[in-house]
Amino acid sequence: MIEINDVWKSFDDGKIAVLKGVSMQVAAGELLALCGTSGCGKSTLLSLIAGLEDCDRGIVKIDGREWKTEKEKVALLRKEIGFVFQLHHLMPDLTLAENCMVPVIAVGGSMAMAKQRMSELAEMTGVAHRLDRSVRELSGGERQRGALVRALMNDPRILLADEPTGALDEANREIVFNLLLDLVKKGGKTLVMATHDRAMADRCDRVLQMRDGRIVM
Ligand SMILES: Nc1ncnc2c1ncn2[C@@H]1O[C@H](COP(=O)(O)OP(=O)(O)OP(=O)(O)O)[C@@H](O)[C@H]1O
Ligand SMILES: [Mg+2]
Repeated sequence: MIEINDVWKSFDDGKIAVLKGVSMQVAAGELLALCGTSGCGKSTLLSLIAGLEDCDRGIVKIDGREWKTEKEKVALLRKEIGFVFQLHHLMPDLTLAENCMVPVIAVGGSMAMAKQRMSELAEMTGVAHRLDRSVRELSGGERQRGALVRALMNDPRILLADEPTGALDEANREIVFNLLLDLVKKGGKTLVMATHDRAMADRCDRVLQMRDGRIVM
């Protein structure tokens, strides 16, 4: 499903080397955790898989395909990949419902179906009563659950989650993570999650440990 082969990534014209030859494969339906200390390159690796950044060299394939053009890439990524960011990245002045509709509008999906799906997901994640509130008015836990709803709106086959519970207290962390696992498993989705939380990582099928831009085990 996801194939990464000898991927290198640096910033600042090569001055900051971040990924130094990362290779890994993730099977369809697999739940993979990426662990490692702050700054080892987890978010960067997720951004490459999501196509938000391009690698300097190496190969990133989704479903056996490497995108050749920007248009191809955008089309594939909008449909197949959902991303829950380290900081939720919801637009603060829009309501939660408006935020959730953004990915649907991006792919030109049916609004009626999307509204139905949003209601179901919001019900499952306990934010149904918050959909018409602006994001500013939501608590941290509600924002993170809302971000999960948004990431799943187009029913992507791959969910990338970057510290999806990092900003939450313990009680909310447990709630949001259980929801995430439940939705991923029920939907037969593939999950790649960056986390510092070893207990959370251990609840995935497999844990990859990163250190200084490399996968060490
Ligand atoms: N756009 C950028 N420009 C310059 N340096 C960057 C950029 N993005 C990331 N870096 C650097 O790359 C390194 C890896 O960052 P990354 O965000 O991938 O780490 P991480 O493993 O996700 O860390 P954390 O656990 O703190 O989220 C860091 O040293 C960071 O400062
Ligand atoms: Mg990170």
